[in-house]
Amino acid sequence: MELHPTGFFDNSAKSYNFIDVEPIAAALGAEIVNVQINRLTDDSFAEIEDALFRHKMLLFRNQEMSHSDQEEFTLRFGEFGKDAYTTGLPGHPHIQPVIKEADAKISMIFGSGWHTDSPFMEKPPAISMLRGVEIPPYGGDTIWCNTALAYRSLSRQMQKIIADLHVHMSAAGVVAELEKSARSDADKQSAFQKTDAAAHRQQMIDGWYHPLVRTHPKSSEKALYVDHTYTSGILGMTAAEARGLLSFLKAHVVQPAFSCRMRWEPNTFVIWDNRICIHQAFNDYDGFRREMYRTTVAGEIPG
Ligand code: SIN
Repeated sequence: MELHPTGFFDNSAKSYNFIDVEPIAAALGAEIVNVQINRLTDDSFAEIEDALFRHKMLLFRNQEMSHSDQEEFTLRFGEFGKDAYTTGLPGHPHIQPVIKEADAKISMIFGSGWHTDSPFMEKPPAISMLRGVEIPPYGGDTIWCNTALAYRSLSRQMQKIIADLHVHMSAAGVVAELEKSARSDADKQSAFQKTDAAAHRQQMIDGWYHPLVRTHPKSSEKALYVDHTYTSGILGMTAAEARGLLSFLKAHVVQPAFSCRMRWEPNTFVIWDNRICIHQAFNDYDGFRREMYRTTVAGEIPG
């Protein structure tokens, strides 16, 4: 580990009137205690939103929530985001199931590489939420890294070098992996054909260019917009030049010092801000079922 959590790390809790906040790591993440999402007042919601921008990811334990409760809470932040991969549930088109069966043996699960959600779109989702229903007895954790802290940890000189760069965000690698897996069996082939990923294949591969340093629209914090799954080039640079810089930034942004890791329980509900953190799911629970439900909030053009 090159950096240790000293000096400018500050993930301490603010004092709020309606919610209690317990940080879970030095770098980012906090648990909101004594709150039921399905009985939220406007005052509590305003404080939760403020806490989200401060801590980047928030978790809530013991949430007895229905799909409708999750939809209602998501809509408090703004319109539903569009998901590029899965179709929603019957009657709940914006709730995306993220389920791995106990007997599934797959090399790539949903979200298994470091990523920010769907940055290959013109307006990637701002906020994502995940509700755990069935959880493996061990494994299946999720890990996040604070990309604003990673940006602040760069030297002034490196911050100047990258200030005006734009990254190419493309889902080419993921699409290739999905198609390879679909080719291996007819059922998977027909399931894949029904997904949004198949319908929008070329758009996902073409992707979009976004600022490498993005500014959060509410908190004005600057953060690195770079990940391992989608960031595939830098506008105006040769592939070799971009590879050098991006391999440094990709290694920098996921240092343990910038991370927090969360162990799921049934009825844990998590929200995170894709503009200031990246995340990764662990594919380490073969033999156990994991059932989650995901929603996203529409985002802006990154600036
Ligand atoms: C995701 O990347 O949205 C899913 C994360 C997880 O399943 O832990």
